[in-house]
Amino acid sequence: MARVIVTGGAGFLGSHLVEELLARSHAVVAIDDLFRGRQKHLDDCKGSPDFHFLKGNCADAKILQQAVELIDGVDVIFHLAAVNGTRWFHEKADMVIDVNVNTTLAALELATEHACRLVFASSPEALGLVEDQPMATAHDSLFEDAALHQRHSYGASKYIGEVLVQHAVRTKDLDCRIVRPFNAYGARCPGNEYGQVISMFMDSAASGRPISLHGDGSQTRSFTWVGDITEGFLLAGFTDRSLDDNSRLEGAVWNMGSTEETSIADLAASIVEISGKNVTIEHSKGYPGDSKRRCPDISDATRQLGWQPWTNLEQGLVRTWHAIDARING
Ligand SMILES: NC(=O)c1ccc[n+]([C@@H]2O[C@H](COP(=O)([O-])OP(=O)(O)OC[C@H]3O[C@@H](n4cnc5c(N)ncnc54)[C@H](O)[C@@H]3O)[C@@H](O)[C@H]2O)c1
Repeated sequence: MARVIVTGGAGFLGSHLVEELLARSHAVVAIDDLFRGRQKHLDDCKGSPDFHFLKGNCADAKILQQAVELIDGVDVIFHLAAVNGTRWFHEKADMVIDVNVNTTLAALELATEHACRLVFASSPEALGLVEDQPMATAHDSLFEDAALHQRHSYGASKYIGEVLVQHAVRTKDLDCRIVRPFNAYGARCPGNEYGQVISMFMDSAASGRPISLHGDGSQTRSFTWVGDITEGFLLAGFTDRSLDDNSRLEGAVWNMGSTEETSIADLAASIVEISGKNVTIEHSKGYPGDSKRRCPDISDATRQLGWQPWTNLEQGLVRTWHAIDARING
């Protein structure tokens, strides 16, 4: 049994990870300021004696210290707290950078103090508008001129997070690993205008509103089932050495995403079909700085961790639809 802290633990990915950690008998403290996460996401964890929740800002060293005291030490930190959601990247670029960088600094400080492992939730957006696809794990980042738009507030903050993590590996001998999830989806992903595309489309369909498709819908994404991403975080946190050659994993970076590339227009059509509802699709202006394609090269995650996207899009969409339809229509 390990003692684990999950920052952003009431969020979409964080709450699924906390549930799975408890199911595997670890002691867990979830920290979240509930900016976007919800305490009800953790309702199923409440009965467990190994579960603790702290509401607060995890850039604050005091709350991190409280977390350590609750479980009498810490073996692994999963650092997921961040401001996520495309609309924020434009509207509150300053907040996105502040939170994403300062929470990462604080999490690294804690890991240094306790000489424990840390898994950082980065993003493919750390690479910006890379044209080579599938996206390799090691690639130069490409960001557009900040005078055009501030979309890259998020990607740049994740890039800086990766720099900080790699710096800690080199200078403090810390065992840190980096996971880049590609468009995770599933229950609890926010479906409002600050949410993510599958939940937004499904919320619209379930509420009888038109689906609003940005641009012509030809941009593609690799949608990845939340359960597969959760398993990826667990492998990243608990695999001691690389499966293929037994090498150390400090500083390793893993792209984790489906290799099934889907256009947003096809996604909208599939959701209309799965919902069985008479929903119209409208076209609206997209956000500037959106990448045209995002498809991962997952060979490192497969080779070193044995990770793969086990769930195909149709299976995942049907499960997600049942969860969202039940939440909205009872
Ligand atoms: N969902 C994806 O497809 C995806 C893709 C790439 C990267 N990521 C990264 O994975 C992580 C989790 O993403 P998610 O989709 O679950 O997003 P989310 O917004 O649901 O989760 C982030 C959580 O962090 C919390 N938080 C924000 N600022 C905080 C602070 N200062 N102190 C404490 N808690 C704070 C939020 O309330 C939220 O619950 C994030 O770091 C995100 O950038 C997610």
